Amino acid sequence: MTAPILVTGGTGTLGRKVVRGLLDAGRDVRVLSRSDNAPYDGVEVVVGDLTTGQGVDKAVHGVETVVHCAGSATGDDEKARHLIAAAVPAGVRHVVNISVVGADTLPVVSALDRKMFGYFAGKRGAELIIERSGIPWTNLRATQFHELTFTVAEQLAKLPVVPAPSGFRIQPVDAAAVAERLVELALAAPQGQVEDIAGPRTYTFKEMTKVYLQAIGKRRLTLPMRMPGKAAAAYRAGANLSPGRGTGRTWEDFVAAQVAR
Ligand SMILES: NC(=O)c1ccc[n+]([C@@H]2O[C@H](COP(=O)([O-])OP(=O)(O)OC[C@H]3O[C@@H](n4cnc5c(N)ncnc54)[C@H](OP(=O)(O)O)[C@@H]3O)[C@@H](O)[C@H]2O)c1
Repeated sequence: MTAPILVTGGTGTLGRKVVRGLLDAGRDVRVLSRSDNAPYDGVEVVVGDLTTGQGVDKAVHGVETVVHCAGSATGDDEKARHLIAAAVPAGVRHVVNISVVGADTLPVVSALDRKMFGYFAGKRGAELIIERSGIPWTNLRATQFHELTFTVAEQLAKLPVVPAPSGFRIQPVDAAAVAERLVELALAAPQGQVEDIAGPRTYTFKEMTKVYLQAIGKRRLTLPMRMPGKAAAAYRAGANLSPGRGTGRTWEDFVAAQVAR
């Protein structure tokens, strides 16, 4: 019998797709979640919380590979610390981590940077904790998912005037393509840092919202906003982008499919 693969965050946008892919590959899957709702039939759920460490020992017990998809806006370094603290004594042999493009290049140095880009610092902290754990690892950095970008566009479109950070560009990627890559990495030997994964096109914020607004038949004025700080300057310089690495559906195709539903 092969050991189950643990997917943290297996109830989330990305993690659910990873779970589906692993099940389709014939693997047993366990999910760590703060609630006991299995994403699919036949998936074992261990209730736990990576922010407190509660339940994590049980989740990693008997596991050789962990795909670490749990994450939130803050505290992902702390979540990785609790995961690794349990995974080392449990004898886990491979941690596959999802991080974000820019984690290693956005300088989050001031309080202001942290307020706007603390998420990236948390992701970098998590990367370093995993790299230094002694457990063989694979780290994949992705750009923003279409799903998150869609939620942002929906919220912005509710405003009478849409704020658009000047010079910011994004390269949204389909979470399905990211999940497919993570499944491939989880089923292979540890590879350390692998090439980034990103969507096929880059957009300014104005272009990104325009695609959504056109699809729902609305118009809005945009208000350019200059974002202060070193991290924002790096963002304007494209530290969050991965040119030449485009894969998966375009933002236009994703929005059209979502709006058609
Ligand atoms: N969204 C993006 O654009 C993007 C881009 C690059 C990288 N990423 C990374 O990809 C990963 C997945 O993102 P996503 O958009 O799929 O997230 P999501 O839909 O918000 O799902 C987050 C998942 O994390 C779990 N989680 C959160 N806090 C937890 C905690 N304290 N203990 C245990 N589990 C916890 C949640 O599980 P329960 O609620 O069931 O407990 C949920 O399954 C994250 O690491 C994120 O940083 C995301």
